[in-house]
Amino acid sequence: AERTFIAVKPDGVQRGLVGEIIKRFEQRGYKLVAGKLMVAPKALLENHYKDLADKPFYSGLVTYMASGPVFAMVWEGKEVVKMGRKMLGATNPRESAPGTIRGDYCIDVGRNICHGSDAVETAQREIALWFKDDELCDYEFADKKWVYE
Ligand code: GTP
Ligand code: MG
Repeated sequence: AERTFIAVKPDGVQRGLVGEIIKRFEQRGYKLVAGKLMVAPKALLENHYKDLADKPFYSGLVTYMASGPVFAMVWEGKEVVKMGRKMLGATNPRESAPGTIRGDYCIDVGRNICHGSDAVETAQREIALWFKDDELCDYEFADKKWVYE
């Protein structure tokens, strides 16, 4: 089954939005496979965002992401990478539709409270970067036959 890496960034944790973000994925019907609160080491963040290394906002981004704990998660389900991005909303919260997580809870692109993998291959890379294999839970979702036809 498809999996994605979703993280509540330090501003989202500080603003008490961890539960709200989990709730939206849970209520949609996606399955939580892993989750942990951690202060991410700089090296991990530099690797995570390595494709953005030449952007002017890169060092500020890494500093922001290291400024407090993040809540890292893995979610599983049908097209969860694409649907997760839709649920988060556009990168710039002022362009995120109301009803999306960013569209409902934030204003500035540099404080956009959450991360979601942008493609299936990216998700695989990010999950391997943030989690050990034994932190991912394999289990049967009780709701499965009521969520999927
Ligand atoms: P993520 O889910 O966090 O990866 O966001 P994204 O995929 O929608 O955007 P992208 O990967 O291009 O950028 C990663 C993060 O860098 C964004 O979520 C923002 O927090 C930050 N970022 C992107 N563009 C800008 C910018 O123009 N200015 C600032 N300050 N931050 C930016
Ligand atoms: Mg991205």
